[in-house]
Amino acid sequence: MMLASGWRSKEGWNCRRHRPERALTLASTSWDEEFSDFYDEWSSDETADVPFYVGLARESSGPIVELAVGDGRVAIPVAEATGRPVVGIDSSPAMLERARTRAAAAGVQLDLRLSDMRNLDLDEQAGLIYCPFRALLHLPTWGDKRLLFERVAASLRPGGRFAWNAFAFDHQRAVGFEGGHFETPVPHSVTYDVPDNRVDMKLDGGGTSSLWWATKNEWLGLLDVAGLEVEALYGDFDRTPLTAMSREYVFVAGAP
Ligand SMILES: C[S@@+](CC[C@H](N)C(=O)[O-])C[C@H]1O[C@@H](n2cnc3c(N)ncnc32)[C@H](O)[C@@H]1O
Repeated sequence: MMLASGWRSKEGWNCRRHRPERALTLASTSWDEEFSDFYDEWSSDETADVPFYVGLARESSGPIVELAVGDGRVAIPVAEATGRPVVGIDSSPAMLERARTRAAAAGVQLDLRLSDMRNLDLDEQAGLIYCPFRALLHLPTWGDKRLLFERVAASLRPGGRFAWNAFAFDHQRAVGFEGGHFETPVPHSVTYDVPDNRVDMKLDGGGTSSLWWATKNEWLGLLDVAGLEVEALYGDFDRTPLTAMSREYVFVAGAP
């Protein structure tokens, strides 16, 4: 299913015509609202990514957009560091409410929008679009990810950047985690569906969050079909190169 049609000129990507009648609904997302209640604990170990995305934001010019902004964990420091508002898109009303409260307490401006990121449609093309904490993996199929990458390509100004991180799937680690119950950061269990490339995290208190992993070459293929160019692929937020031991893909791509 195509959401949008686009074309490319010498000047770069033009905004694609959007077909709102085919817009995806919020019901098709894979983040149960119960996770929002435990998000502080759930994200408490996630800190190394903040300076990385802040650094990219400082280098950018033009609008800054965070996809799947959640509670503003990254967007708030980005807005503080740059003195610029951040457009934050998320499909969870509860997470956006948390972001609103936290932004007000921090005294920064976030432009929060309730929407599925696959429907990304900006008034003004962005200088930086980023998606932390593996949130692109909430999109189930390669086709879903392709729609998103096409929307990102259409939404970036020439020379603009797209950055995200995602875990590098490791069969041995998955075997170790499969069916396990973990007390931290919040009591939950983990199950894998390898044929579907999916891991489900189920909170003891109810609520499931599912992630669909992708290989390095799938990510590169997504950039290729969207007409974006890889600028860097790191194995961690400290910008060390990707190796066989890396657990994370940290991508920075550019719009021509
Ligand atoms: C792990 S949180 C990441 C939040 C934030 N970016 C951070 O780094 O802390 C995942 C977020 O993705 C959002 N999400 C999941 N699927 C989405 C979709 N299709 N469109 C927009 N947001 C989505 C969820 O509502 C949730 O807020």
